[in-house]
Amino acid sequence: MKNILPTPPAVVRNEFQSIQESFRKNVIPSYARFDIALERGQGSRVWDVNGRGYLDLGGGIAVCALGHASPDITAALVAQSGKLCHISNLYYHALQGLLAEQLVGLIGPGKVFFCNSGGEATEGIFKLARKFGHDQGRYEILTAENSFHGRTLAGISATAQAKVKKGFEPLVPGFRHVPFNNLAAARDALSPATAAILIEGVQGEGGITPATPEYLLGLRQLCDEKNLLLLMDGVQCGHFRTGRFQSFQRILENDASPEAAKFLPDGIAMAKSLGGGFPIGAFWARAPYADLLGPGAHGSTFGGGLLACAVALKILEVIERDHLAANARAVGDFLLAQLSSLAARYPSVLREARGLGLMLGLELRENIPAFAASDKSPSIQFVNALHQAGLLAIPAGSRVIRFLPPLNLSRAEAAEAAGLIESVAAHLSS
Ligand SMILES: Cc1ncc(COP(=O)(O)O)c(C=O)c1O
Repeated sequence: MKNILPTPPAVVRNEFQSIQESFRKNVIPSYARFDIALERGQGSRVWDVNGRGYLDLGGGIAVCALGHASPDITAALVAQSGKLCHISNLYYHALQGLLAEQLVGLIGPGKVFFCNSGGEATEGIFKLARKFGHDQGRYEILTAENSFHGRTLAGISATAQAKVKKGFEPLVPGFRHVPFNNLAAARDALSPATAAILIEGVQGEGGITPATPEYLLGLRQLCDEKNLLLLMDGVQCGHFRTGRFQSFQRILENDASPEAAKFLPDGIAMAKSLGGGFPIGAFWARAPYADLLGPGAHGSTFGGGLLACAVALKILEVIERDHLAANARAVGDFLLAQLSSLAARYPSVLREARGLGLMLGLELRENIPAFAASDKSPSIQFVNALHQAGLLAIPAGSRVIRFLPPLNLSRAEAAEAAGLIESVAAHLSS
């Protein structure tokens, strides 16, 4: 019967289905994708191949710092690609030096290595820690429960989530996990082989959980006392997302202690918003450790290439020109207040809103009756409902919805997003 049915005419075969079909046939199915194929964007809005528009509060998972189709990024790419696209790291070019200088200026005394993604940036700080501890036989890096540090073999070994490790054993040795925001647990877990402690300033994939000021300051003290590197993964929470360049600067800004004023980690991984959609990653190493990786110790063909650096420099310029750090803080505070008010008004669906700047999370209640019939996680079901309402957001774990929009999201767009989220919450609580 099935074989004799005619192929449906083009009008009823929507564009999405043919794209999905080509993925099904040709793309390795390592992602569980939503049923949306996007075609174009403008600012914080995107449109799918069937012409349906969405307000995008996922921002390509914290990547699209200037929003979609930024004319500034386009101009930077066009101008640089007309001059020189790629030279390799066998030679110097001005842009890599300039970008490194700006990142050092935003963080503190040290140096920068450039790569192409967050996973490579964390790999770089793992190698920094290995080199640091090598001559004393120290190699172990402690990471936090619920962390996420990328999908390379070392990245999944560092990531304290069983689901990313499963099926890839044996893992890279030398990573152990400790509870987040628990200084005593980190101290108790140290061994003679420990070389470093690595945390995210705000855990992203783990459900939008900021480190406390006490934890950051306590880890710094512990690392100084035991001669360990304190490493931070700023891939998702960095680049002004919290309202300051790095999350630790925001977390510690109201702490008047001298320790807070001089706080610096020893290494920071960066990516995502650094390139606003053009692939680039980087890691910064604090001055005493900045020359640990000497000639031949690490490398990348594309890392710090001209196009990536031209875009990253333009993004930093626009963030300053358009006061986007202040915007991320103000619009983020506004959206957090809106989400908290929704949590208060729809307690049978929403448990809590939390986060810093434009890195916000909305935790769902357990056992939402409307979700009971499906085996999909509550966060996926809630995000699907948001899609129906015209809003893109990102699940984190089984019960948190993440909002990681462009840094230039307007207050009106944040209010519109809150209205769409409310429509979903109200429907689910009725
Ligand atoms: C905190 C953190 N570290 C590392 C990574 C890996 O980055 P990438 O996917 O660019 O390799 C991610 C990606 O989501 C991340 O959130």
